[in-house]
Amino acid sequence: MTVSEIRRPVKRRPRFHRLTVLDVERLTDDAVAVTFEVPVALRELFAFRAGQHLTVRRHAESGEEIRRSYSICSTPSRLRDEGELRVGIKRVAGGAFSTYALSGLAPGDEVDVLPPLGHFTTEFDPARARHYAAIAAGSGITPVLSLAATALETEPDSRVTVVYGNRAAGTVMFAEELADLKDRYRERLHVMHVLSREAQESPLLSGRLDEARIGAVLDALLPAGTVDEWFLCGPHGMVLDAKVALSTRDVDDSAVHTELFHVDDAPPVARPAAAPEDTAQRAEVGIVLDGRTTTFTMAHDERVLDAALRARPELPYACKGGVCSTCRAKVVEGRVEMARNFALEPDELAAGYVLTCQAMPITDRVVVDFDV
Ligand SMILES: Cc1cc2nc3c(=O)[nH]c(=O)nc-3n(C[C@H](O)[C@H](O)[C@H](O)COP(=O)(O)OP(=O)(O)OC[C@H]3O[C@@H](n4cnc5c(N)ncnc54)[C@H](O)[C@@H]3O)c2cc1C
Ligand code: FES
Repeated sequence: MTVSEIRRPVKRRPRFHRLTVLDVERLTDDAVAVTFEVPVALRELFAFRAGQHLTVRRHAESGEEIRRSYSICSTPSRLRDEGELRVGIKRVAGGAFSTYALSGLAPGDEVDVLPPLGHFTTEFDPARARHYAAIAAGSGITPVLSLAATALETEPDSRVTVVYGNRAAGTVMFAEELADLKDRYRERLHVMHVLSREAQESPLLSGRLDEARIGAVLDALLPAGTVDEWFLCGPHGMVLDAKVALSTRDVDDSAVHTELFHVDDAPPVARPAAAPEDTAQRAEVGIVLDGRTTTFTMAHDERVLDAALRARPELPYACKGGVCSTCRAKVVEGRVEMARNFALEPDELAAGYVLTCQAMPITDRVVVDFDV
């Protein structure tokens, strides 16, 4: 690998900061809420928009570095007034970070945390009167709780409807918080719990949140035409089903925000379709970070992030799966192809942004800028 460095004016990039855990509260048998204390000096840096997430970092006993994203369930006003940020973590069987969070994390512990990131949000405006609707399942309620509380708090004439799917009443994350919010905003918040393994009075609300059930709920209880903005967050299948149910009811894509936590299938590893015939030929790739350009060569079938981390280990990333957008950068020279993209919006793609964890070079020279 050849590395050459060119100096440019320095820009700020997100860095990990050590935050103290104030509280770890058990929500259900397999979920906790973790509250971090944000010191006054870091509050501006950690200011966020409802719906965004934090990236946490931990070194496992094996020495492996683990990075994971967790959506913030508290509101921007709680950070401003009390200096607290709260996330909800649901256990994934055998999961490296979630298992640790449920069994090892305790008040007083310190965790490395990146300032908030993400696009699963909207501009709240006290002058607006909107109807927001969310369709969420399982831990997908976490950012929705923050979005709903923020909408109700900052827009006195807006209302929120949440359709929330779970297996059974005992697995419902934030059941109490949602009930409290409902008590506080009785007229403006409507929550519909859909349970897949527990019969409820209404057959419509008993069963899996698949396309048919989402469609039936929309037709009977939540006419799509009454909603201004949609927020979808949950398992990949549920989000896809909700998108189909909405588009068949003429909801424009631009009114629908989606957030995925995980996509089951592994990203394809084959060389990019448009790679040069001679794969022995290596691409020359430049990485701009903190105003410094580092240039190296890499194979066309490798991911830009993986190759770049060898030269610049401080590069931002989390999921490496095309879901979280932490590794987002702009291609300023040449072209790349992404194996998959579950995070960038069409306008970001049009502006040249890519997920470097999914990007493979398809021209002989590529420059990717993390500072813009
Ligand atoms: C933007 C974003 C926001 C997120 N917000 C939240 C949140 O608010 N609350 C929350 O609990 N999680 C959230 N996640 C998911 C979280 O980042 C982790 O992926 C999850 O906690 C699993 O990590 P782990 O280390 O425990 O499991 P890993 O060690 O990463 O995985 C163990 C096994 O489980 C599979 N797996 C990983 N994640 C999932 C999943 N979510 N569902 C099913 N199988 C999975 C893996 O493929 C692997 O086989 C979010 C993810 C993203 C990208
Ligand atoms: S690191 Fe998550 S999308 Fe690339």
